Amino acid sequence: MDSIIVRGGHRLNGTVSTSGSKNAALPILFASLLADGQHRFTNVPYLKDIESTQSLLKSLGASSGREDDTLVVDVSSPAAHVADYEMVRKMRAGILCLGPLLARYGEAKVSLPGGCAIGSRPIDLHIETMRRLGADITSEGGYVIARAQRLVGDRILFEKVTVGGTENALMAASLARGITIIENAAKEPEVVDLANYLIAMGAKIEGAGTSVISIEGVDELSPASHRIVPDRIEAGTLLIAGAITGGKVTVDNCVPGHLQSLVEKMRDAGFRIDTDDSSLTVQATKSWQAVDIATAPHPGFPTDLQAQFMALMTQASGTSVITEQIFENRFMHVQELVRLGADITPMSQVAVVRGNSGGLGAAPVMATDLRASASLVLAGLVAEGETEVSRIYHLDRGYEHLENKLASLGADIERVAAE
Ligand code: UD1
Repeated sequence: MDSIIVRGGHRLNGTVSTSGSKNAALPILFASLLADGQHRFTNVPYLKDIESTQSLLKSLGASSGREDDTLVVDVSSPAAHVADYEMVRKMRAGILCLGPLLARYGEAKVSLPGGCAIGSRPIDLHIETMRRLGADITSEGGYVIARAQRLVGDRILFEKVTVGGTENALMAASLARGITIIENAAKEPEVVDLANYLIAMGAKIEGAGTSVISIEGVDELSPASHRIVPDRIEAGTLLIAGAITGGKVTVDNCVPGHLQSLVEKMRDAGFRIDTDDSSLTVQATKSWQAVDIATAPHPGFPTDLQAQFMALMTQASGTSVITEQIFENRFMHVQELVRLGADITPMSQVAVVRGNSGGLGAAPVMATDLRASASLVLAGLVAEGETEVSRIYHLDRGYEHLENKLASLGADIERVAAE
C-alpha cells in the first residue's frame, strides 16, 4: 500500500486550483440511470470513488469513459437492477442507485453499504423514503430489495437532515407520479448540483438549497450535459494547509459562498481571508487563537472539514472545543494526531484541543478514513522531521493527488509506492 512522506516546516505560498466535487459527482453519475442515452459531465475529479461508481454503473448496464475533459455515461436499457456487495462495500454512496433503479425499472436490489468507518451510518431514512413513495421493501442476505409498479409522490419529512437520503428522494420522486414534498431536506451545495442536473434532464424541481423541496414527477427524462461544482471540502482543506504553515495561499476555481462557515471560523481565529467570485486567499499570521466549532448540516460547519480544522487548532493559542454532531465515531484521527505530539482529549462527541503545546514532531501515522487522512497530512506539514502517513487509499478516494497540489505550493511531500 502506498504511503505519503511529509517533511514539515515549509511555508506554503502560491495558487492552487480546486477539482470538481466528489460528493456532487457521485449522485449525479447515479442520476444518469434515470434516462437512456449519453450523459456528458465535465469537471469530474479523477478519484477512486469515481472509478468505483463507474464500475458499479457498468454492472448495471451503463458504460462510461473519458473523452478529453468530459466523462460520458452511456445508459441503455435493459440494465441489471442489482448493485452487488463487492461494488457497494467499497463505497457507501452505492446506496444512491436505489432511488434511480426503483423509479426507472420498478425494482432494485442493493447491497447494504460500506465506505468510511465513521459511526454506524444506517440507511433507514433511504428505505423509509422509498416506502413513502409506495415501494415494497424487504431485506435478504445483506441486500435491500425494493419493488413498485410506479412510485407515487408523497410528503417526506426527514427526522434528521440526510444528504444521501435527500438525494435518493430527489432522484426517485423525479419519475414518480404526482407531487413529492421533501421537508427538512439537506441544503448542501451537492444536493443543489444534483437538482440542477435533474432539471437539465427535464425534472420539475423547486426549492433545492432550502429545507423544503417540491418535485412534480414526470413520465420521462432525457440525458443532458453538466459541469460538476467545485469541491468545497478540497478547497477548505487547501485553505487550511496554507493557514497551518503560516503561508499565503490562493485557492482558485472554488465557490467561496460554499465555505462561509469555515471562513468565519478562520477569521475568528485571526487569519486574514480575502474572497472574490471564484477564489479564496488565506494570509499568514504568526499566531492564531483557538476557536470552538460544532459540526452541523449546511450551512453549518461541515463534518468533512472537522478533522482538518482540528489539525489547525493543535497549533493555536489556547484551548479549542470541537463538537462532532453529525457522525458518532468521527474522532479516529485524534489518536494519530496525539502520536504526532498533539494534546487532545476526546470525550464521546467532543474533543478538547490544547493548542501550541510545544509543536508537533514527526511519527509514522495511519490514515483511518478519508478526511482523517487529510488532517494527518496537514499536521505533517508542520511536524518537525519526516511524517509517514500510511494506508492512504482512503485519501485517494476523495482527493485528486493532494500531494501534488501541496508540493506545487512548496510542501516537501512525496508518495512512496508500496514495495
Ligand atoms: C454525505 C457525504 C459525506 C458527509 C455527509 C454529511 C457523500 C457521498 N457523502 O454522506 O461526505 O460527511 O454527507 O455531510 O455525499 N443517517 C441515518 N439514516 C440514514 C441516513 C443517514 O441515521 O438513512 C444519519 C447518518 O448516520 C449521519 C447523519 O444521518 O449521522 C447524516 O448522514 P448523511 O447526511 O446521510 O450522510 P451521507 O449522505 O452518507
